[in-house]
Amino acid sequence: MSRVLIIESSARQQDSVSRQLTRDFIEQWRAAHPDDEITVRDLAVTPVPHLDAHLLGGWMKPQAQRSAAERDALARSNELTDELLAADVLVMAAPMYNFTIPSTLKAWLDHVLRAGITFKYTPTGPQGLLTGKRAIVLTARGGIHAGATSDHQEPYLRQVMAFIGIHDVNFIHAEGLNMSGDFHEKGLNQAKAKLAAVA
Ligand SMILES: Cc1cc2nc3c(=O)[nH]c(=O)nc-3n(C[C@H](O)[C@H](O)[C@H](O)COP(=O)(O)O)c2cc1C
Repeated sequence: MSRVLIIESSARQQDSVSRQLTRDFIEQWRAAHPDDEITVRDLAVTPVPHLDAHLLGGWMKPQAQRSAAERDALARSNELTDELLAADVLVMAAPMYNFTIPSTLKAWLDHVLRAGITFKYTPTGPQGLLTGKRAIVLTARGGIHAGATSDHQEPYLRQVMAFIGIHDVNFIHAEGLNMSGDFHEKGLNQAKAKLAAVA
């Protein structure tokens, strides 16, 4: 039995393509792995707080020296990190907003990139601690960006995942969704075909 953690970040619900991809993913994953446990964290419905002075202060102190506000902030943050630590497969659904990931997803990443828990500093540099996990990233984009300098999603997320020790990362891009002609349909169908192979 594996644990799958799905992170949703589209601000849209009904018409969201990235959410459509996660729905397809869940259906196909459940068919192939009926015993797996799937958890969905929806950052648009329940956004995580931005980093603040309480959390950063709390991170640096031993428990006994933390204020009540620091303990609360840390407990909320630990919940997110624990959820990631427990997962075998991480699925991040990310619309492209202004060439990169939604700020809600960035806020989540700011919580889970935790020194001493998901990575550590060594004499030879940082070392990722999340070994043995894989990640799948489902993006939805109005234009076409794969392989171009305008893509600030894939290179960034690859770097972040590698930093915490996740090197097995598959990207599935649904692109050209807001372009005229048959780009939307083509982009979606191509992404769905790739998804079927990965899930
Ligand atoms: C605020 C905002 C910014 C966007 N920025 C970009 C962009 O930089 N590049 C792009 O190709 N599409 C951009 N889009 C289009 C979305 O990526 C596209 O509509 C995608 O389908 C959104 O994901 P969703 O369908 O899961 O909501 C933007 C959309 C919004 C709402």
